[in-house]
Order: sequence, then C-alpha cells, then structure tokens
Amino acid sequence: MAKDVIIALDMDSADRVVRFLDAFTLAKPFVKIGMELYYAEGPDIVRRIKDRGHRIFLDLKLHDIPNTVRKAMKVLSALDVDMTNVHAAGTRAMMEAALEGLERTGGHTDLIAVTQLTSTDEARMRKELLIDASMEETVLHYALNARDAGLAGVVCSPLESLRIHEACGEGFMTVTPGIRFADSAKGDQVRVMTPARARENASDYIVVGRPITEAEDPVAAYERCVREFLA
Ligand code: C5P
Repeated sequence: MAKDVIIALDMDSADRVVRFLDAFTLAKPFVKIGMELYYAEGPDIVRRIKDRGHRIFLDLKLHDIPNTVRKAMKVLSALDVDMTNVHAAGTRAMMEAALEGLERTGGHTDLIAVTQLTSTDEARMRKELLIDASMEETVLHYALNARDAGLAGVVCSPLESLRIHEACGEGFMTVTPGIRFADSAKGDQVRVMTPARARENASDYIVVGRPITEAEDPVAAYERCVREFLA
C-alpha cells in the first residue's frame, strides 16, 4: 500500500496556504484540508490546491443521519479529493450511506473513519459517553465496523496502528496524526510518536501539522519527515 506524509494545512485563509505551498518548488506534498480552512474559504480552496497538483485529504469528519450524510457526500464527491472521512460513531448504516453518496459520481476517493478522537481519554469515554469498554477495545470495534461497512481505513493514533492491521487486515489503511520529531515540542498532543516509530508501527499515512507548518524551514522539515517515515 502507498505510504506517505500528509501535511495538515491548519490555516484560516487561502493567502496563508498559498504562501506556504509556494515554498514547495520541487515536491507536491499530499495535504489535509480541515474544517477551519474549508469553512473559511469554501470548496474553492479545494479546487485551487488540487489545480496546483497536490493530493488532498478533506478532513470534515461528517456525522449525521445516513440520508443527510449520503447527500452531503454526493456533493463533496464533485471535488474528487483523494481521501475524506466520517465519524465511525455515526454507525455502520451512516458509513454505508456515506460510501454510497461518494460512489454515486464515480470518483476514486478513499473514505476513512475517525475512531475515537485522540482528545477523548478513557475516563471521559466512560464517564461522559457511558462507553463501558477500554479505549483499545472501542477503537478496534469501530475500526471493524468501518471495515465491514466497506470503508478503506481509519484515522487513529499511531499507537493503535499495528493492532488495527492485525484485526482488520493489511490492506485496511491507518492514517495517524500525533507525530512529532524526537527533538520538537508536543503542543497539545498527548500521545505522540516520531515518523520512524510510526513506520515501525505500520502507519500507512502520517498526518503532520505544526512540526512542519511552524518550522523555520517547512520544506526541510517536510523532507526530514519523509526521510524518517519512508526510510
Ligand atoms: O499540528 P499537529 O501535527 O498536532 O496536527 C495534527 C492534525 O491532525 C490536526 O489537523 C488535527 O486536527 C488532526 N487530528 C488529530 N487527532 C485526531 C484526528 C485529527 O490530531 N484524532
């Protein structure tokens, strides 16, 4: 399976994004457009970045009733991005509906599911969400639901990647944020891993934001990430 580094473009304007991407004169990195950028600039930012030759993960994490998600995915499928996602917590029926919506226009977008957000810890899951199972069991269960619904993979912690491959199969992709260089700040991420350790743990794609976007030399930081992850 293809392995790659995805840069999280967590920025609030097209101008900032264009200035950032202009520095990448040789490589055209795979990039992630999340809610902030999408809500600020609308679908046009997706078309602009795609026209510049980048592959795109549209990270909008849809979660609603199946009919609404099916119709929203049908609209999004016109953007023909490489990857997009929903919450596995929306149930298998919702994930199947999302896939139907995407496939209706015949594009080739990989649909993946968010398992448990890494900002949710086990104590909160038990106390606030009344989920009486461990984080690992919950994440694996959500991943199996996503696989059974026909999705291509999940977003998960790099710590969970190996177990998910064991349970769901090698071909089921894991896309993992929470990546830090051994010598960089963790920010608000709690459970972090270096690109090299994520490779050893069988992550298929790593999503890297601040270690690249806030680096003094983002191109060099991206190249370092690629070197460490794909070595
Ligand atoms: O800057 P940093 O490398 O922490 O950015 C990680 C990116 O991955 C952010 O866009 C964040 O929203 C996203 N993400 C995450 N944890 C998840 C799901 C998505 O950090 N469980």
